[in-house]
Amino acid sequence: MNHQPSDHELQSDLQPVSWEDGKVKLIDQTLIPDEFVTLEFDDYKDVVHAICTMQVRGAPAIGVTAALGIALAAQTIDAPDSEQFMHQLEPIAEEFRQTRPTAVNLFWAIDRMLRIAREYAHLPIIELRATLVDEALDILQDDIRINRQLGMNGANLLKDGDTVLTHCNAGALATAGYGTALGVIRAAVEQGKRIKVIADETRPRLQGMKLTAWELQQSGIPVTIITDNMAGYVMHQGMVNCVVVGADRIAANGDTANKVGTYGVAVLAKAHGIPFYVAAPMSTVDLSIPDGKHIIIEERCPTEVTHIGEIRIAPKGVPVLNPAFDVTPAEYIAGIITERGVLRPPYTESLIQPNTHHQSPTIQED
Ligand code: MRU
Repeated sequence: MNHQPSDHELQSDLQPVSWEDGKVKLIDQTLIPDEFVTLEFDDYKDVVHAICTMQVRGAPAIGVTAALGIALAAQTIDAPDSEQFMHQLEPIAEEFRQTRPTAVNLFWAIDRMLRIAREYAHLPIIELRATLVDEALDILQDDIRINRQLGMNGANLLKDGDTVLTHCNAGALATAGYGTALGVIRAAVEQGKRIKVIADETRPRLQGMKLTAWELQQSGIPVTIITDNMAGYVMHQGMVNCVVVGADRIAANGDTANKVGTYGVAVLAKAHGIPFYVAAPMSTVDLSIPDGKHIIIEERCPTEVTHIGEIRIAPKGVPVLNPAFDVTPAEYIAGIITERGVLRPPYTESLIQPNTHHQSPTIQED
């Protein structure tokens, strides 16, 4: 299906991932901004492929997509008993696990789906299938609700007239809706603040230029694109008040993996005395790893670097590095904006605070 975005889709309730008539629907993010195409899948293998090829991308969005993909697969599993059912479901979950290694939301969502499948395995198969769809839809709805909450928490950090620099796309497209870093910006705008955004283009896949700039333009939020190597220039010129980025995995000490280039932006922000914030749901926090050294960084195809579209721009035969993410050490992060509030250093303490909105020395909401 190929069409222009409708008014509904142009709002901040843009939903990159959905479930309709027993199918998984995804906005093909590899085609934005030139085309707006919604894909429909009735075979889970195509959903696996869509994650690998980044037709859907962004940590929360791939988690939600994997959950819906597992629910989709469950509709076609025919098994005489729960043991046989799980025997067929587990390898499918494993296929989703193999898609992309860095964003922990993916593994979090897959584990949640498997837990529910085991818990309700005693149900008649028809009910078990329905339960898995309900669970995936809960994950989707929760993500939007959480993003709105963290957006409100983070909006208090922005002042009327601020310019925010962001890297990659942590918007509605990267989540089930509303966005994390862009959710903070949306919430500040909804509070009546005039916020401008500077979007790094984000080589090599250009999520900042293609997705963030498009999303903000559709929402009427002023955005200016820069190439990644201009971040130092705009900071030095005093054009940036604050940096807000998303996250793919946050270790127990606050070290944060996000799109490659984020680390450089954080170092520049510190050098210029500009606060650098990470906005992410608690499902992006991985307390099982003590620090960022334990985060697996996805290495993607060299042609993403050597080619723009179909055109090769690099000399043939030169070795290429293409890590998709880097890790920003916690010491560069002024705060982690979550649905629980704005968590402050030391993150080893604030990340394990109970799930409340109580004020504490390490949790700050304004
Ligand atoms: O490779 P991508 O496009 O999936 O990388 C996405 C990012 O790095 C985002 O900043 C991150 O997932 C946060 S999305 C709310």
